[in-house]
Amino acid sequence: MNKFTYFCPTKVYFGQGAAADALKQELPKVGKTVMLAFGGGSVKKNGIYDELRTLLLEAGKEIVDFEGIMPNPTYAKVQEGAKLVRERQVDFILAAGGGSVIDCCKVISAQAVIEEDMWSMEYEQGKFPAAGIPMGAVVTASGTGAEMNSGAVITYEEKLWKGPIVGTGAAFAILDPMYTAAVPPMQVMSGAFDTMSHAMETYFGRSDADNVSDDVALAIMRNTVINMRRLTLDINDMQARSNLMWDSAMAENGILKAGRLTDFQAHQIEHQLGAYTDCNHGQGLAVIQPVYYQHILEDAKEKFTRFAKEVFGQDTGEKGLKALAELIKECGLPTKMEQLESKVEITPEVLRQVADTCNIIKSGPRQLSREEIYKILCQCL
Ligand code: NZQ
Ligand code: ZN
Repeated sequence: MNKFTYFCPTKVYFGQGAAADALKQELPKVGKTVMLAFGGGSVKKNGIYDELRTLLLEAGKEIVDFEGIMPNPTYAKVQEGAKLVRERQVDFILAAGGGSVIDCCKVISAQAVIEEDMWSMEYEQGKFPAAGIPMGAVVTASGTGAEMNSGAVITYEEKLWKGPIVGTGAAFAILDPMYTAAVPPMQVMSGAFDTMSHAMETYFGRSDADNVSDDVALAIMRNTVINMRRLTLDINDMQARSNLMWDSAMAENGILKAGRLTDFQAHQIEHQLGAYTDCNHGQGLAVIQPVYYQHILEDAKEKFTRFAKEVFGQDTGEKGLKALAELIKECGLPTKMEQLESKVEITPEVLRQVADTCNIIKSGPRQLSREEIYKILCQCL
């Protein structure tokens, strides 16, 4: 194990009825004006908005709505939210949504108390926020694990860049599997694959052979696969949904990353694909990751064999990757670029730009060249 400091300040309220339990305990601790932030309106259709609003009013809060946070949230939306927080003197942010809403709010929280532009502060000066407007996260679509960390992924449209930005972590997270009941099946599966991807990307980073984090990551992968399969039989299986909801939080709350290096090369490629196409994150990973792994199979042969055995009950890395590809198909996830919803036609020229601009990771099984990334992307066409 490498040296590490682990700290996760997010209190988790898990299970049916978690919102009422959490908000009754947490709201008395926060100021009067609460910004209730959400996405394109699903929370209004499924009753979550009304439920949260009632709990906020019962706690004597004044509510400021902030709506329309889009999937793959933009930096412009962050600035809009931060402006609203300042104008209305918001004391607390309650983010109700999937990774996009939660990420956007994490950066709004920090930007609202920081004078300088967060992007230049982090990317040009290498400074990171120390505090922000306190916030809580209500997870309505699981998969990203965004509720238990302070990192966000934001699209800066003008710069054609989708990438990480550090914000403020949620003080508490509400994980009620019933809140995910109305998530469209494709999003349920793409969220679950994102979880699987996080555990794989962590596991395939360089580490000691006997790193305990590897064992934990493999357990999360196994459980994710079992429960994705259960959902192919019944998408409303709430036991499977609740396992996946906790798998998701576990995969990105830092536990798997303790004492080791991580890879996350597939994520870097997918994020830049997202910058150009606005594609769905989990679906983009489902297309890219198996092809990426074919390319690096020989560079981490033993790890791939262990992955194959422990996650899919197969005896070689090759068979493990075949099983991964089959899982993706079984779950109805896309396997080719043409199946992704995209705002532009995904041509080799677009993929060239993605390959030329994405981050390259040094701590994976092998550092890729831009030419290899382009080749991987073209194989996904
Ligand atoms: O916008 P609304 O109307 O709410 O609809 C959303 C959205 O269209 C819908 N949805 C959410 N909850 C629902 C629901 N529909 C019905 N019923 C509900 N209960 O789901 C759609 C997708 O939502 P989104 O938040 O975009 O999905 P996801 O949770 O997959 O988040 C993706 C974003 O998170 C980033 C991704 O890059 C992407 O921008 N990530 C964040 C990470 C982090 N902070 O740790 C790690 C990840 O690797 C990832 O990069
Ligand atoms: Zn992800």
